[in-house]
Amino acid sequence: MKILAIESSCDETACAIVEDGVNVLANVIYSQIALHQKTGGVVPEVAAREHVTKIIPVIEQALAEAKLSWDDIDGMAVTQGPGLISSLMVGTVTASMLATIKKKPLIPVHHVEGHLYAPFLGRTDVIVFPIMLLTVSGGHNEIVLMRDHGEYEIIGETLDDAAGEAFDKVARILGLEYPGGPAISKAAANGKRDAFKFPRALNEKKNFNFSFSGLKTAVLYAVNEFRKQNNIHSELPEQFVADCAASFEEAICDSLSKKFLYAAQAYKPKELQVTGGVSANRYLRLLLQQRNTLGVALHFPQDLKYCTDNAAMIASAAFFKFSRDPNCATNLVIPGASFDLA
Ligand code: KG4
Ligand code: ZN
Repeated sequence: MKILAIESSCDETACAIVEDGVNVLANVIYSQIALHQKTGGVVPEVAAREHVTKIIPVIEQALAEAKLSWDDIDGMAVTQGPGLISSLMVGTVTASMLATIKKKPLIPVHHVEGHLYAPFLGRTDVIVFPIMLLTVSGGHNEIVLMRDHGEYEIIGETLDDAAGEAFDKVARILGLEYPGGPAISKAAANGKRDAFKFPRALNEKKNFNFSFSGLKTAVLYAVNEFRKQNNIHSELPEQFVADCAASFEEAICDSLSKKFLYAAQAYKPKELQVTGGVSANRYLRLLLQQRNTLGVALHFPQDLKYCTDNAAMIASAAFFKFSRDPNCATNLVIPGASFDLA
């Protein structure tokens, strides 16, 4: 079954065509990052306007890349939420309209469920449940036990900021560009990971929830203190930024990897998967690989493009959802800015 999916929940206008949930035939992503760098973050109205102009060209490009016509498409999928409501509107209205005109079943998908399916893309081996997932992004941060397709239990979640959000906010504090994740990693390459002892919250072994707002505040205090002591009112020195970035990355990746592996120890899944924008982080991958002594395979999305927002993951989640329950399809998807996964 070939599904054409649309994702427009935040600042990526994306369309993908995926066969049978894993075989990616096209994955087009128009990123608005350059536009939002000017404001240091996403302005919803600006993002929605950009989606409006890019959505049809992106869909046409996906069909062209896959060398397919609408007749070859068996179904459609779209991100219903959560996300920026004005951005979601563009995707859901376009998908609903096209599904009606082209007479295709339209499958609504939860954005986080999409991220849970990103590590499935491109896999040809047999996937055995239960799977334990760490899904870390700008908007969400959860440990999920996936007992089967569509059966999710949230084992832990952030009590305040998501990890990606913390990367973005700390980057801003340090004067680095948006999005913060890649910018922090780049700066951290020249810094000392033990230069600052930043806090790890909720550190007990059985607590699978996260909290990153104290960590963010600790970086802010370190910066303010440094400015005061050195009488700096403008740009921070490169080495100080590198040391702060490296110590912050150490603290956040330490928390994410330890908590995830503690949860895995407690629930004994058959496989581990890490997904979402922050799963692109090299240092997080390294710590997880080094610390994974459970004898269980650890998977990341096969392509870095599947970590951050994309429509291929939405098509994958839609395929497994539709296979379980064809009645989930509709021809009108009303966007929801926030609702629960499990
Ligand atoms: O999944 P995503 O594209 O959007 C949401 O669903 O939120 O994730 C975007 C987030 C941003 O906060 C960005 O800073 C973070 O993922 N990110 C990274 C890296 N690449 C993107 N964080 C850490 N290291 C990276 N290499
Ligand atoms: Zn996302």
